Amino acid sequence: MSEPITERAKAIAATEMERLLQRTTASKALYERAVQSMPGGVASSFQLGDPYPIYLERGVGAEVWDVDGNEYFDFHNGFGSIAVGHANPIVAEAVEKAARSGMHFAVTVESTVALAEELCRRFDVDQVRFTNSGTESNMTAIRVARAATGRDVIAKIEGSYHGHVDFLMYSCTPGAEQMGGRDTPAATPKSKGMPAGLEQWIRVVPFNDADAFERLLQAEGDQIAALIMEPVMMNVGIVLPQPGYLERIRELCTQYGVVLIFDEVKCGCTIAAGGARERFGVKPDLASWAKSIGGGAAIGAFGGRADIMDEINHGAAHQGTYNGNPLSVAASLATLTKVLTPDAYAHFDYLGKRLASGMQRSIDEHGIPASIVDLGCKGCVTYRSEPLTNYRDFLETNTELYLASYPFMINRDVFMTPGDEEQWTLSVQHGDREIDRYVDAFAELCQALAG
Ligand SMILES: Cc1ncc(COP(=O)(O)O)c(C=O)c1O
Repeated sequence: MSEPITERAKAIAATEMERLLQRTTASKALYERAVQSMPGGVASSFQLGDPYPIYLERGVGAEVWDVDGNEYFDFHNGFGSIAVGHANPIVAEAVEKAARSGMHFAVTVESTVALAEELCRRFDVDQVRFTNSGTESNMTAIRVARAATGRDVIAKIEGSYHGHVDFLMYSCTPGAEQMGGRDTPAATPKSKGMPAGLEQWIRVVPFNDADAFERLLQAEGDQIAALIMEPVMMNVGIVLPQPGYLERIRELCTQYGVVLIFDEVKCGCTIAAGGARERFGVKPDLASWAKSIGGGAAIGAFGGRADIMDEINHGAAHQGTYNGNPLSVAASLATLTKVLTPDAYAHFDYLGKRLASGMQRSIDEHGIPASIVDLGCKGCVTYRSEPLTNYRDFLETNTELYLASYPFMINRDVFMTPGDEEQWTLSVQHGDREIDRYVDAFAELCQALAG
């Protein structure tokens, strides 16, 4: 028999899930139709739900409506891509105008140049190129890093996800039995269908452990082209870099001639206007962006030092029919220059603090084993008393508490990401009303868990 709080969580999960299934019968019917034409009934496996996903119909501002007509305050926000809020009028107007001027030419337009300039300014990089997703951005940043160094091996962090490309899908969520030793984690493939042998090009190191990275470099630094890492881990809840960690990683990469790539697909526009460089003061050699830079449109980019990006002029291939297309560019340019302004970041700070402090009060009052992270418009609750420092800590979270919280919050009209590795995203269109709803629902959950 597990701890009483875990037993109560299981009972809450059962009751709340029953209630959720009763109020989402149209989602169930759409799921039964969707599985005929799509595996799992969804467009991407990140959209799966158990026993079926909640299908949305529309969203305006901070609210979304599902196909049953249930109305929610949205804290899922497209896995962090909708910091502008739904149907943002400024973004919508820009997209409408672009659509009426020709949606796609596969020829670079002036607005694409303007967006490149804005990304260079905002993220303090010399040059950028465009893609259509975070996966593509990372994939190509790696190619450019390999071209620049003439080396093939890539180092990555245990428990990080950088997209669904074969050569990066290692040790994203390894099970305890596959992980290998703490200092020298094994490279574990995430998917079937990845060719055997690819793992020879990957080395895995723990987050927040610069010594482990240094040992790897001492052993085979002259083989390693790049370290790709999220400066803040954002696919296991949120794991913050400890003081000095990113600085030492920076120094080591410089010392060993390894290209430091910050994957800022999730944190780029959400943790500060200028991403990790602004927040933590550490500058990578290359960085990649997607999600929130697009205001909801499918767009990605990567960029960094001019001498490394110059490899694209000297044989490192980077192509894509839709790269920098006017429609996505219009959405992104409006997002970055007109919506995600300094005022927006002040608003995120205010809302984030209100949400995190409200939740912390309930955690303290009821003695719930949970910790909160608040970072720009992102944040999360992790069901472990001590904040996480790396992926292995994440495996110690109490999953039953998350399984109770998901249907509990949804039934109180707070729309959440379907997975304990995810977190909330606030938008510029969120306000006190939405935050207070979350805080109140969470207080009710903590009370129920405390018994
Ligand atoms: C940190 C990180 N990098 C890359 C990706 C891949 O981005 P995309 O889904 O746009 O290909 C994701 C997606 O969740 C991500 O979280």
